[in-house]
Amino acid sequence: MLEVDFFLIRNVRAREVLDSRGNPTLEAEVLTEGGVVGRASVPAGASKGVHEAVELRDGGKRFHGLGVLKAVRNVNEIIAKELKGMDVREQGKIDRKLIELDGTPNKSRLGANAVLGVSLAVAKAAATSYGIPLYAYLGGIRARTLPVPLMNIINGGKHAGNELKIQEFMIIPIGFKTFKEALTAACEIYYELKSFLKERYGLNAINVGDEGGFAPPMKESREALEALVSSIESTGYKPGSEVALGIDAAASNFYEEKKDKYIIDGKELSSGELADYYMELISSYPIRSIEDPFHEEDFKSFASFTRNVRGKVQVVGDDIFVTNVERLKRGIELGAANALLLKVNQIGTLTEALEAAELAFRSGYKVIVSHRSGETEDDYISDIAVGLNTGQIKTGAPARGERTVKYNRLIRIEEELGGRALYPGKEAFSF
Ligand code: PGA
Ligand code: ZN
Repeated sequence: MLEVDFFLIRNVRAREVLDSRGNPTLEAEVLTEGGVVGRASVPAGASKGVHEAVELRDGGKRFHGLGVLKAVRNVNEIIAKELKGMDVREQGKIDRKLIELDGTPNKSRLGANAVLGVSLAVAKAAATSYGIPLYAYLGGIRARTLPVPLMNIINGGKHAGNELKIQEFMIIPIGFKTFKEALTAACEIYYELKSFLKERYGLNAINVGDEGGFAPPMKESREALEALVSSIESTGYKPGSEVALGIDAAASNFYEEKKDKYIIDGKELSSGELADYYMELISSYPIRSIEDPFHEEDFKSFASFTRNVRGKVQVVGDDIFVTNVERLKRGIELGAANALLLKVNQIGTLTEALEAAELAFRSGYKVIVSHRSGETEDDYISDIAVGLNTGQIKTGAPARGERTVKYNRLIRIEEELGGRALYPGKEAFSF
Protein backbone atom coordinates (compact mmCIF):
# COMPACT_ATOMS: atom_id res chain seq x y z
CA MET A 1 0.00 0.00 0.00
CA LEU A 2 1.23 3.46 -0.87
CA GLU A 3 1.26 5.91 2.01
CA VAL A 4 -1.24 8.75 1.67
CA ASP A 5 1.66 11.22 1.82
CA PHE A 6 2.90 9.80 -1.45
CA PHE A 7 0.01 11.50 -3.28
CA LEU A 8 0.33 14.91 -1.66
CA ILE A 9 1.41 17.87 -3.72
CA ARG A 10 4.84 19.12 -2.78
CA ASN A 11 5.04 21.85 -5.38
CA VAL A 12 3.46 23.26 -8.52
CA ARG A 13 5.39 25.23 -11.07
CA ALA A 14 5.03 26.53 -14.60
CA ARG A 15 7.16 27.78 -17.45
CA GLU A 16 6.74 29.38 -20.83
CA VAL A 17 7.38 27.00 -23.77
CA LEU A 18 6.48 27.12 -27.48
CA ASP A 19 3.52 25.76 -29.39
CA SER A 20 3.44 24.54 -33.01
CA ARG A 21 3.01 28.06 -34.39
CA GLY A 22 6.04 29.23 -32.44
CA ASN A 23 3.81 31.09 -30.01
CA PRO A 24 4.50 30.89 -26.31
CA THR A 25 2.30 28.68 -24.19
CA LEU A 26 2.21 27.46 -20.63
CA GLU A 27 3.59 24.17 -19.35
CA ALA A 28 2.80 23.19 -15.77
CA GLU A 29 4.37 20.64 -13.45
CA VAL A 30 2.96 19.10 -10.33
CA LEU A 31 5.46 17.41 -8.00
CA THR A 32 4.29 14.99 -5.34
CA GLU A 33 5.79 13.93 -2.02
CA GLY A 34 6.28 10.54 -3.66
CA GLY A 35 8.73 12.12 -6.11
CA VAL A 36 6.42 11.91 -9.11
CA VAL A 37 6.14 14.73 -11.64
CA GLY A 38 3.00 15.32 -13.73
CA ARG A 39 3.62 17.65 -16.66
CA ALA A 40 1.12 19.14 -19.10
CA SER A 41 1.11 21.88 -21.70
CA VAL A 42 -1.70 23.98 -23.07
CA PRO A 43 -2.74 24.26 -26.75
CA ALA A 44 -4.17 27.34 -28.46
CA GLY A 45 -6.89 27.90 -31.04
CA ALA A 46 -6.92 30.25 -34.04
CA SER A 47 -10.60 30.08 -34.86
CA LYS A 48 -11.75 30.37 -31.30
CA GLY A 49 -15.31 30.52 -30.04
CA VAL A 50 -16.15 33.87 -28.45
CA HIS A 51 -17.44 32.08 -25.36
CA GLU A 52 -14.24 30.16 -24.66
CA ALA A 53 -12.46 30.53 -21.33
CA VAL A 54 -9.82 33.26 -21.52
CA GLU A 55 -6.22 32.51 -22.36
CA LEU A 56 -4.16 35.05 -20.41
CA ARG A 57 -1.57 36.80 -22.61
CA ASP A 58 0.92 39.43 -21.48
CA GLY A 59 0.42 42.09 -24.17
CA GLY A 60 3.26 44.52 -24.87
CA LYS A 61 6.14 43.94 -27.28
CA ARG A 62 7.57 40.65 -26.16
CA PHE A 63 6.42 37.78 -28.44
CA HIS A 64 4.13 40.38 -30.10
CA GLY A 65 2.06 40.47 -26.95
CA LEU A 66 1.54 36.70 -26.79
CA GLY A 67 3.81 35.97 -23.82
CA VAL A 68 2.33 33.95 -20.96
CA LEU A 69 4.57 35.09 -18.14
CA LYS A 70 1.62 36.50 -16.19
CA ALA A 71 -0.09 33.11 -16.35
CA VAL A 72 3.20 31.45 -15.33
CA ARG A 73 3.45 33.83 -12.39
CA ASN A 74 -0.12 33.03 -11.39
CA VAL A 75 0.81 29.36 -11.18
CA ASN A 76 4.08 29.90 -9.35
CA GLU A 77 2.90 32.54 -6.93
CA ILE A 78 -0.83 32.02 -6.39
CA ILE A 79 -1.87 28.49 -7.37
CA ALA A 80 1.23 26.68 -6.02
CA LYS A 81 0.72 28.01 -2.50
CA GLU A 82 -2.90 26.96 -2.39
CA LEU A 83 -2.42 23.46 -3.82
CA LYS A 84 0.53 22.41 -1.69
CA GLY A 85 -0.49 19.55 0.59
CA MET A 86 -3.57 18.63 -1.45
CA ASP A 87 -3.97 15.07 -2.73
CA VAL A 88 -3.51 14.58 -6.50
CA ARG A 89 -6.26 11.94 -6.48
CA GLU A 90 -8.80 14.60 -5.55
CA GLN A 91 -9.16 16.02 -9.06
CA GLY A 92 -12.63 17.43 -8.46
CA LYS A 93 -11.63 19.17 -5.24
CA ILE A 94 -8.49 20.63 -6.80
CA ASP A 95 -10.36 21.85 -9.88
CA ARG A 96 -13.03 23.47 -7.71
CA LYS A 97 -10.27 25.17 -5.75
CA LEU A 98 -8.75 26.50 -9.00
CA ILE A 99 -12.14 27.79 -10.16
CA GLU A 100 -12.69 29.46 -6.80
CA LEU A 101 -9.21 31.01 -6.76
CA ASP A 102 -9.83 32.46 -10.20
CA GLY A 103 -13.26 33.71 -9.21
CA THR A 104 -14.44 34.79 -12.67
CA PRO A 105 -16.93 33.00 -14.94
CA ASN A 106 -14.40 32.71 -17.78
CA LYS A 107 -11.10 32.20 -15.90
CA SER A 108 -9.86 35.59 -16.97
CA ARG A 109 -8.11 36.43 -13.71
CA LEU A 110 -5.63 33.57 -13.40
CA GLY A 111 -6.01 32.60 -17.07
CA ALA A 112 -7.56 29.40 -18.43
CA ASN A 113 -4.07 28.49 -19.61
CA ALA A 114 -2.69 28.65 -16.06
CA VAL A 115 -5.64 26.74 -14.65
CA LEU A 116 -5.76 24.04 -17.35
CA GLY A 117 -2.02 23.35 -17.28
CA VAL A 118 -2.22 22.66 -13.56
CA SER A 119 -5.48 20.70 -13.75
CA LEU A 120 -4.04 18.29 -16.34
CA ALA A 121 -0.69 18.04 -14.60
CA VAL A 122 -2.54 16.96 -11.43
CA ALA A 123 -4.29 14.13 -13.33
CA LYS A 124 -1.03 13.00 -14.87
CA ALA A 125 0.71 13.06 -11.49
CA ALA A 126 -2.09 10.93 -10.03
CA ALA A 127 -1.90 8.38 -12.87
CA THR A 128 1.87 8.15 -12.62
CA SER A 129 1.66 7.80 -8.83
CA TYR A 130 -0.58 4.79 -9.29
CA GLY A 131 1.78 3.48 -11.95
CA ILE A 132 -0.94 3.34 -14.63
CA PRO A 133 -1.41 5.16 -17.93
CA LEU A 134 -3.63 8.25 -18.01
CA TYR A 135 -6.38 6.55 -20.05
CA ALA A 136 -6.64 3.79 -17.45
CA TYR A 137 -6.68 6.34 -14.63
CA LEU A 138 -9.54 8.18 -16.33
CA GLY A 139 -11.54 5.17 -17.48
CA GLY A 140 -10.48 2.14 -15.42
CA ILE A 141 -11.01 -1.25 -17.01
CA ARG A 142 -13.79 0.14 -19.21
CA ALA A 143 -11.28 2.24 -21.16
CA ARG A 144 -10.74 0.19 -24.32
CA THR A 145 -12.16 2.03 -27.32
CA LEU A 146 -9.68 3.44 -29.81
CA PRO A 147 -11.07 6.55 -31.49
CA VAL A 148 -11.88 6.86 -35.19
CA PRO A 149 -9.75 9.74 -36.45
CA LEU A 150 -11.54 12.57 -38.23
CA MET A 151 -8.45 13.50 -40.14
CA ASN A 152 -8.25 17.00 -41.54
CA ILE A 153 -6.14 16.72 -44.69
CA ILE A 154 -7.23 19.81 -46.60
CA ASN A 155 -7.01 23.03 -44.63
CA GLY A 156 -8.90 26.24 -45.33
CA GLY A 157 -10.39 29.12 -43.35
CA LYS A 158 -8.21 30.57 -40.63
CA HIS A 159 -5.75 27.68 -40.81
CA ALA A 160 -4.53 28.29 -44.34
CA GLY A 161 -3.56 31.00 -46.80
CA ASN A 162 -6.05 29.99 -49.50
CA GLU A 163 -9.59 30.92 -50.48
CA LEU A 164 -11.41 27.91 -49.07
CA LYS A 165 -14.00 29.18 -46.60
CA ILE A 166 -14.66 25.82 -45.00
CA GLN A 167 -11.89 25.34 -42.48
CA GLU A 168 -11.43 21.57 -42.50
CA PHE A 169 -11.97 18.78 -45.00
CA MET A 170 -11.60 15.45 -43.27
CA ILE A 171 -11.39 11.77 -44.11
CA ILE A 172 -12.98 9.36 -41.66
CA PRO A 173 -11.73 5.75 -41.93
CA ILE A 174 -14.73 3.78 -40.70
CA GLY A 175 -14.48 0.45 -42.53
CA PHE A 176 -11.49 -1.01 -40.69
CA LYS A 177 -11.00 -3.47 -37.86
CA THR A 178 -8.21 -1.82 -35.91
CA PHE A 179 -6.98 1.70 -35.26
CA LYS A 180 -3.66 0.86 -36.88
CA GLU A 181 -5.33 -0.32 -40.09
CA ALA A 182 -7.53 2.75 -40.18
CA LEU A 183 -4.54 5.03 -39.62
CA THR A 184 -2.59 3.21 -42.33
CA ALA A 185 -5.38 3.77 -44.85
CA ALA A 186 -5.67 7.43 -43.87
CA CYS A 187 -1.91 7.95 -44.35
CA GLU A 188 -2.01 6.24 -47.75
CA ILE A 189 -4.83 8.54 -48.83
CA TYR A 190 -2.86 11.51 -47.54
CA TYR A 191 0.14 10.59 -49.77
CA GLU A 192 -2.18 10.04 -52.72
CA LEU A 193 -3.78 13.43 -52.16
CA LYS A 194 -0.34 14.98 -52.20
CA SER A 195 0.41 13.58 -55.66
CA PHE A 196 -3.05 14.53 -56.89
CA LEU A 197 -2.66 18.13 -55.74
CA LYS A 198 0.84 18.46 -57.11
CA GLU A 199 -0.28 17.22 -60.49
CA ARG A 200 -3.43 19.29 -60.73
CA TYR A 201 -2.46 22.53 -58.97
CA GLY A 202 1.33 22.59 -59.05
CA LEU A 203 4.01 22.52 -56.37
CA ASN A 204 2.53 25.28 -54.24
CA ALA A 205 -0.52 23.16 -53.60
CA ILE A 206 1.31 20.82 -51.25
CA ASN A 207 2.24 23.41 -48.68
CA VAL A 208 0.60 22.50 -45.41
CA GLY A 209 -1.63 24.49 -43.08
CA ASP A 210 -1.59 24.69 -39.29
CA GLU A 211 -2.98 21.21 -38.77
CA GLY A 212 -0.75 19.50 -41.32
CA GLY A 213 -3.37 19.24 -44.06
CA PHE A 214 -2.58 20.59 -47.51
CA ALA A 215 -3.59 24.16 -48.22
CA PRO A 216 -4.05 24.13 -52.01
CA PRO A 217 -5.03 27.25 -53.95
CA MET A 218 -8.62 26.10 -54.34
CA LYS A 219 -11.57 28.43 -54.58
CA GLU A 220 -14.52 26.23 -53.74
CA SER A 221 -15.57 23.54 -51.32
CA ARG A 222 -16.46 21.14 -54.14
CA GLU A 223 -12.87 21.13 -55.39
CA ALA A 224 -11.64 19.97 -52.01
CA LEU A 225 -14.32 17.29 -51.67
CA GLU A 226 -13.63 16.12 -55.19
CA ALA A 227 -9.91 15.81 -54.42
CA LEU A 228 -10.66 13.73 -51.32
CA VAL A 229 -12.99 11.32 -53.11
CA SER A 230 -10.57 10.91 -55.97
CA SER A 231 -7.65 10.22 -53.59
CA ILE A 232 -9.67 7.67 -51.62
CA GLU A 233 -10.58 5.87 -54.85
CA SER A 234 -7.13 5.90 -56.36
CA THR A 235 -5.69 4.51 -53.13
CA GLY A 236 -8.05 1.58 -53.58
CA TYR A 237 -10.59 2.29 -50.82
CA LYS A 238 -14.33 2.78 -51.12
CA PRO A 239 -15.53 6.31 -50.49
CA GLY A 240 -18.45 6.18 -48.07
CA SER A 241 -18.42 2.63 -46.77
CA GLU A 242 -14.71 2.44 -45.96
CA VAL A 243 -13.69 6.08 -45.78
CA ALA A 244 -16.32 8.75 -45.20
CA LEU A 245 -15.84 12.50 -45.36
CA GLY A 246 -16.34 15.21 -42.76
CA ILE A 247 -16.14 18.98 -42.75
CA ASP A 248 -15.69 21.63 -40.09
CA ALA A 249 -17.24 24.74 -41.60
CA ALA A 250 -16.29 26.90 -38.58
CA ALA A 251 -19.02 29.12 -40.03
CA SER A 252 -18.57 32.01 -37.59
CA ASN A 253 -15.51 32.87 -39.66
CA PHE A 254 -17.43 33.48 -42.89
CA TYR A 255 -20.57 34.91 -41.33
CA GLU A 256 -21.13 38.60 -41.85
CA GLU A 257 -23.22 39.88 -39.02
CA LYS A 258 -24.20 43.20 -40.57
CA LYS A 259 -25.71 41.48 -43.58
CA ASP A 260 -26.77 38.36 -41.68
CA LYS A 261 -25.23 36.40 -44.54
CA TYR A 262 -22.58 33.76 -45.08
CA ILE A 263 -19.96 34.61 -47.69
CA ILE A 264 -18.87 31.31 -49.16
CA ASP A 265 -17.77 29.89 -52.51
CA GLY A 266 -18.52 33.09 -54.38
CA LYS A 267 -22.03 33.42 -52.95
CA GLU A 268 -23.80 35.37 -50.22
CA LEU A 269 -26.15 32.97 -48.50
CA SER A 270 -28.83 33.28 -45.81
CA SER A 271 -28.77 30.56 -43.16
CA GLY A 272 -31.56 28.72 -45.02
CA GLU A 273 -29.66 28.88 -48.29
CA LEU A 274 -26.49 27.74 -46.56
CA ALA A 275 -28.40 24.74 -45.18
CA ASP A 276 -29.59 23.93 -48.72
CA TYR A 277 -26.01 24.23 -49.95
CA TYR A 278 -24.84 21.72 -47.32
CA MET A 279 -27.66 19.38 -48.40
CA GLU A 280 -26.43 19.58 -51.99
CA LEU A 281 -22.89 18.77 -50.89
CA ILE A 282 -24.16 15.88 -48.76
CA SER A 283 -26.03 14.45 -51.73
CA SER A 284 -22.96 14.65 -54.01
CA TYR A 285 -20.28 13.45 -51.59
CA PRO A 286 -20.17 10.89 -48.75
CA ILE A 287 -20.15 13.56 -46.01
CA ARG A 288 -21.07 12.04 -42.65
CA SER A 289 -20.02 14.70 -40.17
CA ILE A 290 -20.48 18.47 -40.25
CA GLU A 291 -19.08 20.70 -37.53
CA ASP A 292 -20.23 24.26 -36.83
CA PRO A 293 -22.41 24.60 -39.95
CA PHE A 294 -23.72 27.97 -38.73
CA HIS A 295 -22.30 30.78 -36.62
CA GLU A 296 -21.89 30.25 -32.90
CA GLU A 297 -25.08 32.02 -31.74
CA ASP A 298 -27.47 30.50 -34.26
CA PHE A 299 -28.91 27.63 -32.18
CA LYS A 300 -32.08 27.73 -34.30
CA SER A 301 -30.43 26.99 -37.65
CA PHE A 302 -28.33 24.30 -35.99
CA ALA A 303 -31.52 22.69 -34.68
CA SER A 304 -33.46 22.64 -37.92
CA PHE A 305 -30.41 21.36 -39.81
CA THR A 306 -29.88 18.61 -37.23
CA ARG A 307 -33.52 17.53 -37.66
CA ASN A 308 -33.14 17.42 -41.42
CA VAL A 309 -30.03 15.25 -41.48
CA ARG A 310 -30.96 12.93 -38.60
CA GLY A 311 -29.62 9.42 -39.09
CA LYS A 312 -27.52 10.53 -42.06
CA VAL A 313 -25.00 13.09 -40.87
CA GLN A 314 -23.44 13.85 -37.51
CA VAL A 315 -23.80 17.52 -36.52
CA VAL A 316 -20.96 18.62 -34.26
CA GLY A 317 -20.95 21.67 -31.99
CA ASP A 318 -17.58 23.30 -31.37
CA ASP A 319 -17.69 27.12 -31.23
CA ILE A 320 -21.39 26.97 -30.35
CA PHE A 321 -20.85 24.83 -27.20
CA VAL A 322 -17.20 25.60 -26.30
CA THR A 323 -17.14 22.52 -24.02
CA ASN A 324 -19.33 24.51 -21.64
CA VAL A 325 -22.07 22.65 -19.77
CA GLU A 326 -24.42 25.64 -19.76
CA ARG A 327 -24.20 26.18 -23.51
CA LEU A 328 -24.41 22.44 -24.15
CA LYS A 329 -27.57 22.22 -22.00
CA ARG A 330 -29.16 24.92 -24.10
CA GLY A 331 -28.15 23.10 -27.26
CA ILE A 332 -29.55 19.80 -26.00
CA GLU A 333 -32.88 21.42 -25.11
CA LEU A 334 -33.15 22.90 -28.58
CA GLY A 335 -31.79 19.83 -30.41
CA ALA A 336 -29.00 21.97 -31.84
CA ALA A 337 -26.59 19.13 -32.69
CA ASN A 338 -25.92 15.49 -31.95
CA ALA A 339 -22.23 15.59 -31.11
CA LEU A 340 -19.96 17.65 -28.87
CA LEU A 341 -16.43 18.64 -29.79
CA LEU A 342 -14.45 18.38 -26.55
CA LYS A 343 -11.53 20.78 -26.16
CA VAL A 344 -10.22 20.93 -22.61
CA ASN A 345 -8.75 24.39 -23.00
CA GLN A 346 -12.11 25.87 -24.03
CA ILE A 347 -13.33 25.39 -20.47
CA GLY A 348 -10.13 25.27 -18.42
CA THR A 349 -10.32 22.29 -16.05
CA LEU A 350 -10.39 18.55 -16.60
CA THR A 351 -13.37 18.18 -14.26
CA GLU A 352 -15.52 20.61 -16.21
CA ALA A 353 -14.55 18.98 -19.50
CA LEU A 354 -15.51 15.57 -18.08
CA GLU A 355 -18.83 16.99 -16.91
CA ALA A 356 -19.53 18.29 -20.42
CA ALA A 357 -18.69 14.86 -21.86
CA GLU A 358 -20.97 13.11 -19.35
CA LEU A 359 -23.85 15.44 -20.11
CA ALA A 360 -23.33 14.80 -23.82
CA PHE A 361 -23.30 11.02 -23.38
CA ARG A 362 -26.40 11.09 -21.15
CA SER A 363 -28.21 13.10 -23.80
CA GLY A 364 -27.37 10.71 -26.61
CA TYR A 365 -24.70 12.98 -28.06
CA LYS A 366 -21.44 11.67 -29.44
CA VAL A 367 -18.20 13.18 -28.15
CA ILE A 368 -15.13 13.95 -30.25
CA VAL A 369 -11.97 14.78 -28.35
CA SER A 370 -10.06 17.47 -30.21
CA HIS A 371 -6.68 19.10 -30.56
CA ARG A 372 -6.27 22.83 -31.31
CA SER A 373 -4.64 24.33 -34.37
CA GLY A 374 -1.80 25.49 -32.12
CA GLU A 375 -0.62 22.31 -30.40
CA THR A 376 2.27 21.06 -28.33
CA GLU A 377 3.99 17.68 -28.25
CA ASP A 378 1.80 16.68 -25.31
CA ASP A 379 -0.40 13.67 -26.08
CA TYR A 380 -3.05 13.65 -23.32
CA ILE A 381 -5.96 14.03 -25.74
CA SER A 382 -5.29 10.49 -26.96
CA ASP A 383 -5.60 9.18 -23.42
CA ILE A 384 -8.74 11.25 -22.83
CA ALA A 385 -10.35 9.80 -25.97
CA VAL A 386 -9.62 6.21 -24.89
CA GLY A 387 -10.31 6.89 -21.20
CA LEU A 388 -13.80 8.18 -22.01
CA ASN A 389 -14.44 5.68 -24.83
CA THR A 390 -15.52 8.56 -27.04
CA GLY A 391 -14.82 6.59 -30.21
CA GLN A 392 -13.82 9.72 -32.15
CA ILE A 393 -10.83 12.07 -32.18
CA LYS A 394 -9.78 15.08 -34.24
CA THR A 395 -6.05 15.58 -34.32
CA GLY A 396 -5.08 16.73 -37.78
CA ALA A 397 -3.04 15.29 -40.60
CA PRO A 398 -0.25 12.73 -40.16
CA ALA A 399 2.30 15.34 -41.07
CA ARG A 400 3.58 17.38 -38.20
CA GLY A 401 5.12 16.13 -35.00
CA GLU A 402 2.58 17.77 -32.72
CA ARG A 403 -0.15 15.82 -34.56
CA THR A 404 1.65 12.50 -35.10
CA VAL A 405 2.55 12.32 -31.41
CA LYS A 406 -1.19 11.86 -30.73
CA TYR A 407 -1.53 9.13 -33.37
CA ASN A 408 1.61 7.40 -32.13
CA ARG A 409 0.27 7.44 -28.59
CA LEU A 410 -2.89 5.73 -29.86
CA ILE A 411 -0.81 3.08 -31.65
CA ARG A 412 0.91 2.34 -28.35
CA ILE A 413 -2.36 2.25 -26.43
CA GLU A 414 -3.92 -0.16 -28.94
CA GLU A 415 -0.89 -2.43 -28.59
CA GLU A 416 -1.01 -2.23 -24.80
CA LEU A 417 -4.72 -3.09 -24.68
CA GLY A 418 -4.08 -6.10 -26.92
CA GLY A 419 -7.14 -8.30 -27.31
CA ARG A 420 -9.25 -5.90 -25.24
CA ALA A 421 -8.79 -3.04 -27.70
CA LEU A 422 -11.85 -2.09 -29.69
CA TYR A 423 -11.88 -0.06 -32.90
CA PRO A 424 -15.52 0.89 -33.42
CA GLY A 425 -15.37 2.12 -37.03
CA LYS A 426 -18.86 3.02 -38.16
CA GLU A 427 -20.29 2.02 -34.77
CA ALA A 428 -18.82 5.19 -33.29
CA PHE A 429 -21.38 7.21 -35.23
CA SER A 430 -25.13 7.51 -35.24
CA PHE A 431 -25.53 7.35 -39.01
P1 PGA B 1 -8.86 26.11 -33.58
O1 PGA B 1 -9.72 25.31 -34.64
O2 PGA B 1 -8.07 25.17 -32.76
O3 PGA B 1 -8.03 27.02 -34.44
O4 PGA B 1 -9.85 26.90 -32.76
C1 PGA B 1 -10.05 23.97 -34.53
C2 PGA B 1 -11.51 23.75 -34.78
O5 PGA B 1 -12.26 24.70 -35.13
O6 PGA B 1 -12.00 22.63 -34.62
ZN1 ZN C 1 -14.16 23.48 -35.11
